[in-house]
Amino acid sequence: MGPRAERGTDNLREAIRLMLRRLHPEQPESFAFTPANLAWAEGQISKYPEGRQASAVIPLLWRAQEQEGWLTQKAIETVAEMLGMAYIRVLEVATFYFMFQLQPVGSVAHVQICGTTTCMICGAGDLMAVCKDKIAPKAHMLSADGKFSWEEVECLGSCANAPMAQIGKDYYEDLTAERMAEILDELAAGKVPVPGPQNGRYASEPKGGPVVLTAHAEGRAPYNASVALATEIGDTVKRIDGTEVPLRTPWRDAAPKAAPAAAAPAAPAPAAPAAETVADENVGTRPEALEAPREGGADDLKMIKGVGPKLEDLCHSLGFYHFDQIANWSDAEVAWVDANLTGFKGRVTRDDWVAQAKVLAAGGETEFAARVKKGDVYDT
Ligand code: FES
Repeated sequence: MGPRAERGTDNLREAIRLMLRRLHPEQPESFAFTPANLAWAEGQISKYPEGRQASAVIPLLWRAQEQEGWLTQKAIETVAEMLGMAYIRVLEVATFYFMFQLQPVGSVAHVQICGTTTCMICGAGDLMAVCKDKIAPKAHMLSADGKFSWEEVECLGSCANAPMAQIGKDYYEDLTAERMAEILDELAAGKVPVPGPQNGRYASEPKGGPVVLTAHAEGRAPYNASVALATEIGDTVKRIDGTEVPLRTPWRDAAPKAAPAAAAPAAPAPAAPAAETVADENVGTRPEALEAPREGGADDLKMIKGVGPKLEDLCHSLGFYHFDQIANWSDAEVAWVDANLTGFKGRVTRDDWVAQAKVLAAGGETEFAARVKKGDVYDT
């Protein structure tokens, strides 16, 4: 076999190896989000309607990777449990997208060299040679000190500044082999080199300087907007622990509309079970609750759009098991339930449970309930 054919076989082997994305054989025994990352993850989950929590799978996997550097089996399982998904479903997502690292990466930085056409023509091969020399002979291998790893990636959309690499969260552009080596040395020494063009260009203007809008170049900020933001945030190779920029979720804390006092029924509310689930007794009026479902069992409250398995459990813990209970709630009672659905405040009003429950209690069927019955909404 000639050298060209051998090279072709090597490339094919590497392509097959990349396609067969597997969990790493060595795995840590546990995974836990940091408290701040956990709060962030719960905020992400709250963006989606009940029954659609699986939509948060990519943000949560990504955050787990940002925290640990790579996706461990335990992290995948943790995310699956948080979202009520089968492990295999989350594993499918993690193995499908190449942005998820399924093997350990360097403790300081993982270097991603763009090897697509423009970068390849402009010297990506030289950058990879530096990585092979200074980090490890093969992509996805850790350096001897465990501080670095590297891989070749497809076009990162910075072709006008080829060749380039993404290191951590930022782009290093207009690279040469020499500059690449210096950047790795600087990172190893605990410094974070300024991202952006490395050959003196401001952005992606012609190499000899701008020929139009030249006045604009006078008195400009020292860095282009991307580089300015990167240096301002300063988290290029930092692991994200959740304390950086808290996620704002104002909808979770929104106080439900207080019901007019006149709407409150005069009769005192009966004692209800599971008092520890009650968060706020001061809003509205507590509806009549049951100690347990009536004979014949509880209605499937998940037929009500907006009520998923977790919310159904919460309703049961508050003593609500039947459509007719919900159908008869007054405005004041809706306000009380909205205020006491911990983690799901305001859902009764948002999804108009009462109107839906009226249809179901009367033996009718809503369009959503028909989909639940067909098994189109929840895994059975
Ligand atoms: S080809 Fe390298 S960034 Fe597009």
